[in-house]
Amino acid sequence: MKIKTICCIGAGYVGGPTMAVIAQKCPHIKVTVVDVNASRIAAWNDNDLNNLPVFEPGLDSIVKEARGRNLFFSTNIDQAIEEADMIFISVNTPTKTYGKGKGMAADLKYIELCARQIAKVAKQDKIVVEKSTLPVRTASAIKNILDNTGNGVQFQILSNPEFLAEGTAVQDLLNPDRVLIGGDTTKEGQAAIQTLVDIYANWVPKERILTTNVWSSELSKLTANAFLAQRVSSINAMSEICEKSGADIDEVARAIGMDSRIGPKFLKASVGFGGSCFQKDILNLVYIAKTYGLNEVADYWEQVILMNDHQKNRFSDNIVSTLYNTVSGKKIAFLGWAFKKDTNDTRESPAIKVAYNLLNEQANIAVYDPKVVAERMYADLDYLNTRTEAVNRSLLTVDTDPYLVTKDAHAIAVLTEWDEFKYYDWQRIYDSMHKPAFIFDGRGILDKKALEKIGFVCYTIGKGS
Ligand code: UDX
Ligand code: ADP
Repeated sequence: MKIKTICCIGAGYVGGPTMAVIAQKCPHIKVTVVDVNASRIAAWNDNDLNNLPVFEPGLDSIVKEARGRNLFFSTNIDQAIEEADMIFISVNTPTKTYGKGKGMAADLKYIELCARQIAKVAKQDKIVVEKSTLPVRTASAIKNILDNTGNGVQFQILSNPEFLAEGTAVQDLLNPDRVLIGGDTTKEGQAAIQTLVDIYANWVPKERILTTNVWSSELSKLTANAFLAQRVSSINAMSEICEKSGADIDEVARAIGMDSRIGPKFLKASVGFGGSCFQKDILNLVYIAKTYGLNEVADYWEQVILMNDHQKNRFSDNIVSTLYNTVSGKKIAFLGWAFKKDTNDTRESPAIKVAYNLLNEQANIAVYDPKVVAERMYADLDYLNTRTEAVNRSLLTVDTDPYLVTKDAHAIAVLTEWDEFKYYDWQRIYDSMHKPAFIFDGRGILDKKALEKIGFVCYTIGKGS
């Protein structure tokens, strides 16, 4: 089957960039991205490319090239489904906040809604592709809904998990380590797989396109994220030992990373991992293991999350104890709120937990982040539901000038590894702060020796004092 029209349900951090790249690389295919969120779609259609809802280096020029040519953003979901030969489902699958599996299992209600909508609208055969990260065997649930509630048309379900990392999404999509496509082992399933392989083959070398059965594909996504998160928790566990013992975590990471079996990537100690995937996917894995009665497996992976929580908490505890056991009424400047650099995404950002802990200690927090808007930060705090919105706005202020944010502060906490932080006029910042002026570098990006020479009292994750 030759695909002429694609629809993607969900215009988020995955759906938006992925479809932009498919549209750029396949000008012969019409790609329509739809979403229930009208303001998100309006932002994707904004003439000013600075207003795209997702910030990713390089994304604006791809959208500029393809939008209006063969890339469209719309709220007319039914029309896009009806027109499409292939439908990607790229909606959010957050951790359940209620009922069975609360706090662990993935909430599939948005996926189910999509499946029901596709079943209702589709009048000709379609290939449905799961892009969202999903628990194993979701594809069969989708198929069940489609087959039992549809208009008698044939659906093939594929699993095509997305491995892009935010901040490098465009590069990851243009030059992926691998593309994974899972499908049925039947003749029709294999034909559907081939159809999707042909789309990626427009720019991805064939040997990097892997095909598997559906369940292997679904489980591989959870496994990849669990392994990556485990590396971060492992290096973070070592960072605490380094601080106590006088070893240097960057030196340790370099030494072990040169072992080709370990490799150098994902060994940067930090205040903790964030992002929409790691925690959610591990919790999901833990839940799956528990439902199979595999309690040791569940405990093993859960420890990765516990270590991450510990890392965030010990970072804020250290700020409080270093500032003579009280931050009440003291201004603490946050550099960074995003969960990593080069993204405006804040989901599960360690900054939120550190802010929460320090606000409980009655600190006043001032935040600067180059890409995250104030409304997003307040929404993150309001979501915690611990204070009224008005109180959150009085205790945490946001500014677009890092020099104003750090002025009169007792301490600075670096929560995101934005490159620009390295190049600030640190003498000027020091002069404007209360003394002693403390810096807590939760990302290990600043030059500790240079800062100490200026006069700062400097704590860096994984480095003894
Ligand atoms: C992750 C996976 O990398 C990606 O393949 C999957 O599709 C989605 O989840 P993402 O969450 O966007 O991507 O970013 P990633 O680069 O993996 O970073 C996740 C978190 O780990 C960030 O908070 C980052 O700061 C932290 N991290 C990463 C570290 O603290 N140290 C490291 O060495 C690497
Ligand atoms: P991700 O990082 O996985 O892309 P996001 O939360 O950024 O997750 O994006 C998911 C998008 O899916 C959101 O914009 C949300 O409005 C959209 N969405 C969720 N359910 C539906 C649905 N039933 N129909 C259309 N869009 C949906």
